[in-house]
Amino acid sequence: MDFLVSSGALAYSGYGWPWDWPLVWSGVIKPEEFTIDTKSFTRYYREGNYRWYRPWSVLRPLAGGCWVNSFGLSNPGLAWGLRKFNPYPWEDLNIILSIFPTSPEECSEMCQMAEGAKIVGIEVDVSCPNVDSTRGVVSICRAAKESTSIPLIAKFGYQHPTWLIREVAPYFQALHLINAVLWATVFPHKKSPLARYGGGGVSGPIIQPFCEDKLKELAGVGVPIIAGGGIDSIEVVKRYAELGASAFSFGTLFLNRPWEPNRIARKWRQNSLSL
Ligand SMILES: Cc1cc2nc3c(=O)[nH]c(=O)nc-3n(C[C@H](O)[C@H](O)[C@H](O)COP(=O)(O)O)c2cc1C
Repeated sequence: MDFLVSSGALAYSGYGWPWDWPLVWSGVIKPEEFTIDTKSFTRYYREGNYRWYRPWSVLRPLAGGCWVNSFGLSNPGLAWGLRKFNPYPWEDLNIILSIFPTSPEECSEMCQMAEGAKIVGIEVDVSCPNVDSTRGVVSICRAAKESTSIPLIAKFGYQHPTWLIREVAPYFQALHLINAVLWATVFPHKKSPLARYGGGGVSGPIIQPFCEDKLKELAGVGVPIIAGGGIDSIEVVKRYAELGASAFSFGTLFLNRPWEPNRIARKWRQNSLSL
């Protein structure tokens, strides 16, 4: 697991959103070269803010290949996900199931529901920037650890204090840093085009310094780190690796230049072999 597709980038299945399908069919995007984080599931259907007939109302491009989104975790719920995608078409992909539990009890239930699914891990998303995700994090993380033997990853955001991440790190096989960053953190003096949804989360190259900060703060945490946040070139991968990350995730790059993630991953693997 050196390169991941981060949650939301290639939909629930790893084969992408409808606009990605021609690229997957033609081999431009090769999901099988990655480990895939599914889009996050909540326990039950959640309407969120996304509507298929007006996606741009919750997803807007910004300058420099960045985006702001306020999907608000629209999703059909975990039972749907497990029914629809297990085992087909997940069987030939390495899938990490991303879940967004709202309480420790729900977290245990969701982990237990995933037992037997064809997945290589569960990612506990405690960092969606579009819902309040800073409360109850420690108990949710502990519940995950106590409920399953499936390998666990926790996905944190820039908003989470370092002490908290350090406290729960031993419960997990890896930490994933970072989720999209709150609009107000990135642009404290500018109004968001998604202000009516609370501002949204910003992704893409502009959040690289935020990811770097978190990697520095968590140096020596003792758990492997998956770094993501604005990766758009091999140089960024190298920088994150120098800051201690051992795996890397692509999100927004799939929106901007969908052919690049596979290229970067291949180039990195080739370089690693020749070292
Ligand atoms: C449209 C969109 C939807 C996303 N949905 C999720 C999600 O469901 N769960 C999650 O943990 N992260 C989600 N993310 C965050 C990404 O997985 C990624 O962590 C973040 O965008 C930062 O990486 P990037 O700059 O490479 O995109 C989403 C991002 C975008 C742009």
